[in-house]
Amino acid sequence: MTGKPLQRPLTILGIETSCDETAAAVVRGFPPGPGEILSNIVFSQNEAHAPYGGVVPEIASRAHLEIVDGVIEQALAGANIALSELDGIAATAGPGLIGGVMVGLTTAKGLALASGKPLLAVNHLKGHALTARLTNGVAFPFLLLLVSGGHCQLLGVAGGDDFRLYGSTIDDAVGEAFDKAAKILGLPYPGGPAVEAAARGGNPRAFHLPRPLVSGHNARPGADFSFSGLKTALRLLVQRQTAAGICVADASASFQAAVIDILADRTRAAMAMYRSDFPDVEMPALVVAGGVAANQAIGAALDELAGREGFTVRIPPPRLCTDNAAMIAWAGLEMLAQGEEGGAPGTSLAVSPRARWPLAGKAPVSI
Ligand code: KG4
Ligand code: ZN
Repeated sequence: MTGKPLQRPLTILGIETSCDETAAAVVRGFPPGPGEILSNIVFSQNEAHAPYGGVVPEIASRAHLEIVDGVIEQALAGANIALSELDGIAATAGPGLIGGVMVGLTTAKGLALASGKPLLAVNHLKGHALTARLTNGVAFPFLLLLVSGGHCQLLGVAGGDDFRLYGSTIDDAVGEAFDKAAKILGLPYPGGPAVEAAARGGNPRAFHLPRPLVSGHNARPGADFSFSGLKTALRLLVQRQTAAGICVADASASFQAAVIDILADRTRAAMAMYRSDFPDVEMPALVVAGGVAANQAIGAALDELAGREGFTVRIPPPRLCTDNAAMIAWAGLEMLAQGEEGGAPGTSLAVSPRARWPLAGKAPVSI
C-alpha cells in the first residue's frame, strides 16, 4: 500500500454472492475505521441447501440471480441512499463458487457502468480480514485467525494488501469440519451453530478425539492445521457406538474441545511468528474472523490464550462474522481510499471472477 489513506468519509455499496448468502449493504467511513453500517441485508439460502447437508452450487447461483436485485434495492432503501450518492460499488470477485461470484460481480459492473461510479473488486477473504477495522478500527499490523467454511489460516496483516501467511490447513477448513461433524452426528446444516448448541449440554472429556499435528504420531511444530483425522475419528466413534446410541451432546462437546485445542495451539505458534515480524507492537490485536468466529466457546478459549500471551482479542459480532456484504463494502472502501492517493487497485470493469484467490497471493487477473 502506498500513501496515506483518504480522510473524507466514503459511502460504498457492497454485494456478496460467493457462497449461499445473497447480501447487500451500505457502509460509510474512512480507514482505519470504525465505520458506520447504514444497511446490512443478508438473505440466507440455508433452507434450500439443508436437505443436501451442504451448499449445492447450481441451486446457489440460481437463487442469487433471482433475488440479488431485490436485496440491493432493500440495502439502498434501508440506507436511504440513491445510487448517485455512492462513492463506489464493491462486489466479491472471489474466491468462492464461480456461478455465484459471477452473478454479484456482473450486477456490480452493470451498476457501476450505469452510475459512472468506480467498481471495487473485493477478495472475500479480505472482507473477513478487515471487518475488525469496520467494527473496532483495529490498527495494522494485527494477527488474523481466519476460520470459515472454506478457509483456515493464520496471517500477519500489515496492510490491506500486505498479508503474511503463518499457517493454513493441509486438508479441511475448520467450518467444513464442523459441517461434516454435524452430518455424522445427525445434526442439521449449517453444522457449526448446531454442534455448538449441542455441545453446551455435553461433557468435553467424554470421548478422546485426536488433535492432528498438535499431538500424537503426526505432531509437528508450526501454525498449520489438519482436521480430516479428527472427522474420521468422530465417524469411527459413532459407528462403534451406534448399537448403544451415542450421546450427541457429549460427542459434540468432545469434538469442539479438540477443535479448540487445535486452534489455540496453532494460534500460539503464530503469535511467536508475528512477534518476530513485528517486535515493536505493544498489545497487538488477535482478530478472529470468518463464520466459525461466531462460536462462543472458541472465542472464550482464544481470549484466555491472548490474555496469557499479551494480545487483545477482537471478534466482530456474529452477524458480521458469517458472510455479509458490509464487510465487502468496507474492504472496497479501504481500496478506494487507498487507491485515490495510490493508484486505484481493482477498479477496472474488465476484472474477472475467480474461484480461487489466496490472500497472500497475486491480485485478480483482468481480461
Ligand atoms: O464465513 P462463512 O459464513 O462462509 C464462508 O465463507 O465459508 O462461514 C460459514 C462456516 C460454516 O462452515 C458454518 O458451519 C461455520 O462457519 N459456523 C460455525 C458457527 N457459525 C457458523 N462454526 C462453529 N460454530 C459456530 N457458531
Ligand atoms: Zn466467508
